[in-house]
Amino acid sequence: MCGIVAYIGHRQAYPVILKGLKRLEYRGYDSAGVAMLNNGLHVYKKKGKVAELEDLLTGKDMNSSIGIGHTRWATHGEPNDKNAHPHTSGDKKLTIVHNGIIENYLQIKKELIQRGHQFSGDTDTEVLIHFIEEIKKQNQCSTEEAIRVALKRVVGAYVIVVLDVDNPDTLIAARKGSPLVIGIGKGEHFLASDASPIVEYTKEVVFVNDYEMAIIKADELILKNSSNEIQTPYIQKLDIELAAIEKSGYDHFMLKEIFEQPQTIFDSLRGRLDAKGGTVILGGLREYTTSFESAQRIIIVACGTSWHAGLVAEYMFEELTRIPVEVEYASEFRYRNPVIREGDIIIAISQSGETADTLVAMESAKEKGAVIFGICNVVGSSISRTSHAGVYTHAGPEIGVASTKAFTAQLAVLCLMALKIGHEKGSIPHKRYLQLLHELEAIPEKVEETLKLNDAIKKMAEKYKNAHDFLYLGRGYNFPVALEGALKLKEISYIHAEGYAAAEMKHGPIALVDENLPVVFVATKDAYYEKIISNIQEVKARKGKVIVVVTQGDKNIPALADDVIEVPEADELVAPIINVIPLQLLAYHIGVLKGYDVDKPRNLAKSVTVE
Ligand code: G6P
Repeated sequence: MCGIVAYIGHRQAYPVILKGLKRLEYRGYDSAGVAMLNNGLHVYKKKGKVAELEDLLTGKDMNSSIGIGHTRWATHGEPNDKNAHPHTSGDKKLTIVHNGIIENYLQIKKELIQRGHQFSGDTDTEVLIHFIEEIKKQNQCSTEEAIRVALKRVVGAYVIVVLDVDNPDTLIAARKGSPLVIGIGKGEHFLASDASPIVEYTKEVVFVNDYEMAIIKADELILKNSSNEIQTPYIQKLDIELAAIEKSGYDHFMLKEIFEQPQTIFDSLRGRLDAKGGTVILGGLREYTTSFESAQRIIIVACGTSWHAGLVAEYMFEELTRIPVEVEYASEFRYRNPVIREGDIIIAISQSGETADTLVAMESAKEKGAVIFGICNVVGSSISRTSHAGVYTHAGPEIGVASTKAFTAQLAVLCLMALKIGHEKGSIPHKRYLQLLHELEAIPEKVEETLKLNDAIKKMAEKYKNAHDFLYLGRGYNFPVALEGALKLKEISYIHAEGYAAAEMKHGPIALVDENLPVVFVATKDAYYEKIISNIQEVKARKGKVIVVVTQGDKNIPALADDVIEVPEADELVAPIINVIPLQLLAYHIGVLKGYDVDKPRNLAKSVTVE
């Protein structure tokens, strides 16, 4: 989704902003722009990639120590040059970059048109800067005051940064619902939608809170709440390194992140799991263990890949804790006036911690009195801060739009939680508890072994890359894995793919099966093994192309399959963490072979901060 970068200080702003915009490319966008102050205001913006904007600006005088930049992911108004940010007020004195959506912009626009304002594009953002200009004129007040007044009227979510020609030493930023990080340097400040554009300059950051406004000069940062009271900024230390947000020799971030998984899973278990000692320590759970033990119901809310992690967690939690679990799309849950009863616990799962639907779903459940537990990857994110308690997944920055390492880290953490709660509650036999701790501990090594399949899977990708449709099937713990495999493929190869519970196939998808349809089964040894063999036979009988993920040494399935992917043996409860790896690789290689930009697939965004 949209990305903001801004700078004020002693350096040239343009290179900092340009590099920052490139670092934010992974979020997904369709146009980019910058505004600088250099003998007046200069705004440059363009549909397309940041590199195209850079080409446009080559040779131009970009000398300025203050500036704002933006990558836009279109919501209101098509992606084109005029709808790109920054947007400027009618008098060309104020310019703005904005992430989020101003829901009541049409009403405000109507009023402004009546007052003679003219608009060049179709965006809500242009309306907002004209609105600020109008308030400033009407009230004869400062830009800061005009922004405060305007934002009181605005309905929706936003982060804005405003540059004012008449105050060339100040940037003004404000947020509600979308993230903003301010990096604090020596005599300079960096503003961005996430920490990736900032980390190479400073590790000291402030995460701006909702309803706060920041008035930023080179050597001064003033934070105010919506009542204009000064707040003390809470300065935090970033714990990410520059290498974590660079490709480190891999062709794509997605491949790097797939290959990082032995380490990232290890990191999400580190200091938490002691299989020998038979303990699980989850600091975030400590004060809430009894709430979980007595919980009547767990409701998991999430979107996309995180929702799939929630589906696996449903199987884990019901088996190990005997607490009923429901898994909800956050976007449905938030609008449904759901029944929340005392004793319900909400678990919100999110890589970015900024997904608007997930955030609002948990906020509305919080208002109804539920305990909210967050599982996030991004430290300091909105979802982590809105939760009563939570656990970080510690997978490190995930840059590839298609989530990979965050998913497996989520599964590792969810499994730890289910084990901890089940153990405390006494709902897992002790022997099984200890066995599963060892199973979990062995996962990083088994993932390492699974990654050796990379070359074989690349060959398979060659064979199947021209298929128009794919079907992914699994049962039990492997059903959500099939869903995730299908999602990965459609995200980055643009091949239509459906995931289904294998037994449901005969209620519809079986009609699609013919000699042109590759069907990927996830059929490792588990309680459903015999049943899924029957499903494989049903596809084979209709001449479908059968690709099967099996447990190493499987003697039955290879005879039925066109292609076999053998993965290390693991207990069915932790097997999804391994079984998803070949599906990630298959999607990756097909996407690359088809010539697509797998790290930045069309139309997708990494962090979906609009509903
Ligand atoms: C977007 C991303 C997906 C992600 C989903 C939920 O669609 O492209 O990879 O699974 O959002 O994001 P979250 O950050 O909440 O996990």
